[in-house]
Amino acid sequence: MAPHEVVTRALAREMNDLCASLRRVLGLLVDRRGDVTHVILGDSLRLYLPDIGRLRAGEQRLRGLRLIVSHPGGAYRGRKTYGLESDLITDLEKLQLDGVLQLEAKRDGAPGRLAFGHVMPAQKGRTGARVHEDFYPNFEALDLDFLFFVEDLEDQLQKAFQRVREAEKLKSDRGIAVLVGVYTTAKSVWEASLSELEELCETANVSVADVIVQRRRKIDPRSIVGKGKLEEICLQALHLGAEILIFDRDLSPSQLNAITDMTDLKVLDRTMLILDIFARRATSQAGKLQVELAQLKYALPRLAKKQEGLSRLAGGIGGQGPGETKLEVDRRRARDRLARLEKDIDKLSKQRNLRRSQRGKRNVPVISIVGYTNAGKSTLLNQLTQSKVYAKDELFATLDPTSRRLRFPREREVVITDTVGFIRDLPDSLVNAFRATLEELDDSDLLLHVIDAADPLLERQMQSVEKVLRDLKLDEKPRLLVFNKCDQVHPLDAERLGEGENAVAISALNKEGFKELLKKAALYIWPVNSGSASPSDSSQGWSPELN
Ligand code: GTP
Repeated sequence: MAPHEVVTRALAREMNDLCASLRRVLGLLVDRRGDVTHVILGDSLRLYLPDIGRLRAGEQRLRGLRLIVSHPGGAYRGRKTYGLESDLITDLEKLQLDGVLQLEAKRDGAPGRLAFGHVMPAQKGRTGARVHEDFYPNFEALDLDFLFFVEDLEDQLQKAFQRVREAEKLKSDRGIAVLVGVYTTAKSVWEASLSELEELCETANVSVADVIVQRRRKIDPRSIVGKGKLEEICLQALHLGAEILIFDRDLSPSQLNAITDMTDLKVLDRTMLILDIFARRATSQAGKLQVELAQLKYALPRLAKKQEGLSRLAGGIGGQGPGETKLEVDRRRARDRLARLEKDIDKLSKQRNLRRSQRGKRNVPVISIVGYTNAGKSTLLNQLTQSKVYAKDELFATLDPTSRRLRFPREREVVITDTVGFIRDLPDSLVNAFRATLEELDDSDLLLHVIDAADPLLERQMQSVEKVLRDLKLDEKPRLLVFNKCDQVHPLDAERLGEGENAVAISALNKEGFKELLKKAALYIWPVNSGSASPSDSSQGWSPELN
């Protein structure tokens, strides 16, 4: 056909004749030059398209193929309006076809009505039609300059795509993601998890273009969601210009492979995202090494296995043999690096122990701040010591322990240390990776467990922190519960939270409740002497001084 014709009258007629005599759906795929690339014969109801390649990521171009279908007329009987069959709409979307033209073949092969559908420029959100249909009563009414039409459509798609991307890009420097939550539990349970994932993305500077949730009775062991759903998700990502899929759970190496086999999108799971944040945040040498170690340990079994079969035939012994694949080199390098990192971390840990024991000799008590991520630990440390430890409304703002001196009344001094924020579902591998960071806690005389009093999930967060402390065998340490952000809760609630010897209500931001906090802390640290430092003796000044 000439490129500008969507279909010629002669071809349409021939298709309809064949379709009517065979009583089967007949389809042609036609490229932009007007050449037929595939002829497909379906059954009486639908076509099954051949595999024409998988979904391509980040491409705003169309497939370069249009589908022309001749459908037995009877299929529409009983329907009010004439339109594209639903499976054709799905094919159009999934394959990013240039367009689908459906011809109605009457029983005698006479041409009937026509419907032409094409995809529409991206729209954010899951709802709303993404396919536009035009209807024509007969062939004469079809006045489409196909080449002009498809070039214009691609242009529009590209522009819309760029608009979405640019808007999202402004918000992020790490890419645009579609979040995928697949759950078997009740909504109230997964909602919290999903909103935490969104916050993690914000912290990682990843912009979230869409969130797709699926409730299943059982998680698909192969690819988490079923194949069809996964295709739908990838398609949505494609439409929104997203290049990352982030699953709100951990993916086993085989699940990760199964998913990446289906799409060119970058696929991350929860742990990988947390590790990515850790990697960007760690500033000290120890923190950096620990993050790299955790990343390598997680990545090693997940390095793609695709070339393995080949290498087994021709691998050399020891060093890089002639048949050794890139994958094996990568693995070997990763393992070498792992060993090196473990050694370095061990060395650093020894050095730190030495420093700590020196501090111990000086007999300075140590207070450590622990708590769920974003509870306000860094803010508390800053405000108490007037220093400028990194405090920001992001998860995991703190990755390295930061120690400051804090002066109590009567020239008494403590070292106060901020630690990494805890998080629910922190994988064991991460707890281990950060054990060295948390080693500081071993020497603490008191743990300040900072809790975001304004968070509706505070109880669960407290439990998570307690669990990590138990895992680290620190649950025997004296603990003071510090209910923070009390400026955001009702005064009566704050009062109730702060009752008792082991709890205090504060607002780190407004420096409220510090007097009470230090008073109660002192009772733990100097149990015998502190009686003389009466809390009511405000002339002594409980407010902290700059070190
Ligand atoms: P991680 O490093 O992620 O573990 O966080 P963190 O616990 O150290 O929290 P951070 O001190 O960074 O504070 C988190 C957010 O809570 C920041 O936006 C703070 O400004 C805010 N914040 C801290 N304390 C208070 C408070 O008393 N009241 C209010 N309203 N906000 C607070």
